[in-house]
Amino acid sequence: MLPQKSWHDLAGVAVIGDQERLSLLVIKVVAEVDYSQYVNVFTGTQSGGNDFPGVARPFGMVKLGPDLLNTRTDSYSGYLSFGKFSGFSMMHEQGTGGAPKYGTVAQLPLVGNITTPLSSTTVGRAVADQGSVGYYKAQTSDDVVVELAATAHAGMYQYAFPTSSTGKNILIDVSHVLPSFRGQGLGQGYAGGEFNIMPDGHYEASGIYNNGWNRSPDWTIYSCGYFNTTASSATAYINNVAQTTGSASSNSSTVPVGGLFTFTNATFSSRVGISWVSKAQACENVNNEIPSWTKFSKVVQNTKDAWNSEVLSKVTVTSTNTSNLALLYTSLYFMNLLPTNQTGENPGWKSPEPYYSDIFTLWDLFRCSTALLHIIQPVVYEEYIRSLIDIWRFDGYLPDARSSNYNGRTQGGSNADNVLADAFVKGVRGEVNWIDGYAAMRKDAEVTPPNTIPPDPMAPDSSTKEGRGALPDWLQYGFITPTFSRAASRAVDYAYNDFSLYQVASGLQNHEDAAKYLNRSRNWRNHWNPAQQSLGFSGFIVPRNLTSFIATDPVNDDGYWGDPYYEATSWDYSFGDIHDMAKLVEWMGGNDTFYSRLETTFAVGANPSNPTGILFDSTNEPTFNVPYLYNYINRPDRSVYQSRHVAKTLYTTAVNGLPGNSDAGAMQTWVLWNMIGLYPVTGQTTFLIHSPWYECMTIDLSNGKNLVITSSGGDGNGDTNIYVQSLKVNGRPWVKSWLEWDDIFANGGTMEFVLGPDPVLWATGELPPSPATET
Ligand SMILES: *[C@@H]1O[C@H](CO)[C@@H](O)[C@H](O)[C@H]1NC(C)=O
Ligand SMILES: *[C@@H]1O[C@H](CO)[C@@H](O)[C@H](O)[C@H]1NC(C)=O
Ligand SMILES: *[C@@H]1O[C@H](CO)[C@@H](O)[C@H](O)[C@H]1NC(C)=O
Ligand SMILES: *[C@@H]1O[C@H](CO)[C@@H](O)[C@H](O)[C@H]1NC(C)=O
Ligand SMILES: *[C@@H]1O[C@H](CO)[C@@H](O)[C@H](O)[C@H]1NC(C)=O
Ligand SMILES: *[C@@H]1O[C@H](CO)[C@@H](O)[C@H](O)[C@H]1NC(C)=O
Ligand SMILES: *[C@@H]1O[C@H](CO)[C@@H](O)[C@H](O)[C@H]1NC(C)=O
Ligand SMILES: *[C@@H]1O[C@H](CO)[C@@H](O)[C@H](O)[C@H]1NC(C)=O
Ligand SMILES: *[C@@H]1O[C@H](CO)[C@@H](O)[C@H](O)[C@H]1NC(C)=O
Repeated sequence: MLPQKSWHDLAGVAVIGDQERLSLLVIKVVAEVDYSQYVNVFTGTQSGGNDFPGVARPFGMVKLGPDLLNTRTDSYSGYLSFGKFSGFSMMHEQGTGGAPKYGTVAQLPLVGNITTPLSSTTVGRAVADQGSVGYYKAQTSDDVVVELAATAHAGMYQYAFPTSSTGKNILIDVSHVLPSFRGQGLGQGYAGGEFNIMPDGHYEASGIYNNGWNRSPDWTIYSCGYFNTTASSATAYINNVAQTTGSASSNSSTVPVGGLFTFTNATFSSRVGISWVSKAQACENVNNEIPSWTKFSKVVQNTKDAWNSEVLSKVTVTSTNTSNLALLYTSLYFMNLLPTNQTGENPGWKSPEPYYSDIFTLWDLFRCSTALLHIIQPVVYEEYIRSLIDIWRFDGYLPDARSSNYNGRTQGGSNADNVLADAFVKGVRGEVNWIDGYAAMRKDAEVTPPNTIPPDPMAPDSSTKEGRGALPDWLQYGFITPTFSRAASRAVDYAYNDFSLYQVASGLQNHEDAAKYLNRSRNWRNHWNPAQQSLGFSGFIVPRNLTSFIATDPVNDDGYWGDPYYEATSWDYSFGDIHDMAKLVEWMGGNDTFYSRLETTFAVGANPSNPTGILFDSTNEPTFNVPYLYNYINRPDRSVYQSRHVAKTLYTTAVNGLPGNSDAGAMQTWVLWNMIGLYPVTGQTTFLIHSPWYECMTIDLSNGKNLVITSSGGDGNGDTNIYVQSLKVNGRPWVKSWLEWDDIFANGGTMEFVLGPDPVLWATGELPPSPATET
């Protein structure tokens, strides 16, 4: 038998034993299906989706793509469908909002006699960009064709200038970053750098940058670039002044440095490595991953192969419907770009632990993404969990978000607690040090992080860097007063976080802590005003002070950093604490009222101030759970109806095919769970059952086991006949609207659905667990 780990490596194995050869043939065929053909890299790149369409390996540190400049629009992932090219840069986030990050380490092809290269030079776009997994192509208004390919820590540019053009130049402007025009004070800055042309013609550079969405202090990235042809001239510049030494350096945000290479040949390529550690490491990265003789097409092919074997082949379906295959594989693609595996590339501390950064953010990701990452990328996931704990070990706190190796910003609770609890209860052990993991969670729950200096202008009351800024009130009163911004929504999150501590404390047999945190996980109840009314319903999460509840308007009180509710309404946040659902159903007025409140959430015009819209906010993560909550009153048929409607009307592979910011793939994982027919309840072993799209989906659980989900009676596309008539789990009839990790994921399993056009009350069993509700 072959070790499991090599199943997906087989296609790339050059020398194999004769005896193994025969059995490999079958597997090789499977591994060679090109699922990447279904991925549309431009999905969600417009209308606020912010998807990154450039080239990258799964979780790769290099994300090489175009940077478009339009002085009124923030380009969060570098790409815009309009504007001018300001560079093709090596570092990007995926699908994030708030304010742009990175856009660093760029090249820009320019035609002509460039006399002032370091002047934020841009060039127009001739035709729409093209891209596929591992490959990107753009054409500038000078008719220069730029093609891009990437490995994990390096990238390759292939240039074709018109042969007739006089002056075939590549500009490297070290001061280049993605700017922000929103005026929030979160624009990135450049703080100096170096640019050196080496005797053999390659260049080495470093740049210092700061701020961006996470308000990070200065960080440095190193780069090392080669051209495969000799430049006719190569000049280093400081502030547009040519340096005869070939070296340029600056300590100042107003003094850009860079270089201009001019070529005679019209067609040439460039290989560039980056490193967070040193210029030498950047050179090593590029020379290891893209040695000088490497063909561009080989880099493209290897990246495509990596996506097929490491990601896309993990989920297979029997469907031949290309629009659904496209949504499936495109969604899988975009959820595997972040976080970034920066193991060996940590400038902060030396440690034998793995290191992942670009966590953007767990506030977005903890409901759907981390639970799916666990299933399809268990090796990455365990490394990621270890890395989160190592960040606490050396930086003092778990991150809720992190980029450029700096924690921040924290929008609500300390949601790494939820991620760790989810991993713990589902049996992730391996090399994870859970004593430390729990200590890290306990710090979130007990130690108020110091406010940042200067404080975050958008929320000056407490730290937005990490931990739980409003902890003083939470500890003293069991609720959060208006002393703290986002008090009501933070209370909902903190209760969830404390439930996560309860889960891990219980598992570690720390009964005293378990009792304490279970108790604290109920403190959302202290913000529950049974008399608060909205649209005929009573009882909502409200802001409160020491003496009384504060009146609110639950359907219109959506706010931002300085408000009582962050990025969702009281109507939304009132559904937030899924660990205490039985209590919530009771307090919302029992089964029938809970049902009609959910129906009202999805009813057109329920909010008189929005006659054509619905209350449910499909654009953001706090409401991800809501369509599935019908399972808590054994009405999974309505969960199927509402969630399917959202999935089928708001998610496509079009350029505007996401309802909101992708947020590092959070949106994509929501729709993937909809296709699977399950919904994860993060922090618990529970998965809510709704209904699958496909006749047969197989998920490779990477332990030699599979989860096979079949359906009969449906249309195979999830459009009609969506209602469950009956279900068997592992061959046994199943009447619960939920199941547990051990039922189908720990050792694989099967789910056999019979679907039909009309709802059937098939879920007659025990309700999904409400572990925080007193029995
Ligand atoms: C480029 O422009 C500079 C400054 O205008 C000029 O001195 C130089 O001769 C030009 N070079 C060519 C090749 O046209
Ligand atoms: C131009 O490209 C050709 C073919 O790739 C190569 O043989 C030649 O050496 C190149 N010229 C320069 C100046 O690098
Ligand atoms: C940058 O600052 C350091 C420390 O003040 C100084 O030694 C160095 O000369 C400066 N370099 C430049 C290019 O100004
Ligand atoms: C340099 O790269 C270009 C573009 O990939 C290629 O056409 C050319 O043959 C390469 N030149 C050499 C000398 O390898
Ligand atoms: C993460 O990166 C390190 C260093 O490149 C590598 O050794 C490790 O295998 C990577 N992890 C995964 C899951 O690929
Ligand atoms: C639970 O909370 C209540 C009210 O805040 C308190 O009286 C009680 O002591 C707590 N119990 C535990 C086990 O912490
Ligand atoms: C608490 O809020 C109520 C209602 O807004 C207000 O009347 C009262 O003065 C507040 N009390 C304190 C102590 O701030
Ligand atoms: C609410 O519905 C569930 C599921 O049908 C049922 O078990 C429970 O008894 C109902 N509760 C009440 C108070 O009727
Ligand atoms: C393919 O799936 C789409 C989306 O579910 C559906 O609209 C279309 O009718 C399907 N095509 C066929 C041939 O079944």
